[in-house]
Amino acid sequence: MMKGRKTILTMLLSATLALTAGCGAKETATSGTSEAKTIRVGTDAAYAPFEYLDGGKVVGFDADFLDAVMKEAGLKYELKNVGWEPLFASLKTGELDMGISAITINDDRKKTYDFSSPYYESTQMIMVKEGSSVKKADDLKSLKKIGVQTGTTGAEAAEKLVGKNSERISKYENTVLAIMALKNGEVDAVVADNGVVKEYVKNNPKEKIVAIEDKASFDSEFYGLMFKKDSKDRDKVEAAVQKIMENGKYTEIYKKWFNTDPDLEALKK
Ligand code: ARG
Repeated sequence: MMKGRKTILTMLLSATLALTAGCGAKETATSGTSEAKTIRVGTDAAYAPFEYLDGGKVVGFDADFLDAVMKEAGLKYELKNVGWEPLFASLKTGELDMGISAITINDDRKKTYDFSSPYYESTQMIMVKEGSSVKKADDLKSLKKIGVQTGTTGAEAAEKLVGKNSERISKYENTVLAIMALKNGEVDAVVADNGVVKEYVKNNPKEKIVAIEDKASFDSEFYGLMFKKDSKDRDKVEAAVQKIMENGKYTEIYKKWFNTDPDLEALKK
């Protein structure tokens, strides 16, 4: 019995991998610019509603936001689905110029990369199966396994609770895989960004997964566009970010994806 399940699981996993690892490259040309260079932007398109693949194309709040910013800046770009850890590595080596991937701005990353000003406020949330004993972040300490995406602030948050290098933390290459591990019982909880957790729970009511918020334990995080250090594009892009926040374009995109008005003041803090 177990064996049969495992095979199906393996098949499912490879199907997901194929889905999430596909090349979701997208090219957008903008008019009215003399800039010949195409800015290479990387993402990990397994993080709906921020970035995910729809028919091989990267879509989501981040994709729309990026498009509006680059149009405003008059810059040509190409958005590639490279995966989360490769995104950081490729920015460092200069294979990519920029990253957009629901990336939290933090001091550690600031040592290696440059960021735009914040464009989205988020916090960590916990996903468990209905009936779980977990009601708050502290309860994670009593679990056997917690699933996270490698190298994310969710992984950090889990490590803060149960200890760095704890074998109770299972790390996955992307968040879709971590959620699948929760569904099949490989892990007892997943820690990820609230926007993603809420979207998943809302879209999959039959899976009986619940989302737990714990504002006392999890801080506010802010997403930024990420650049390699001393990027020549940053200032131009940043000016465009400011512009679309002021002219209503950002609000329009935010409403399309989150059905509510953004708190622009919170982003300025
Ligand atoms: N905000 C979190 C971080 O920066 C998670 C982002 C994960 N993004 C993704 N596209 N997988 O660490």
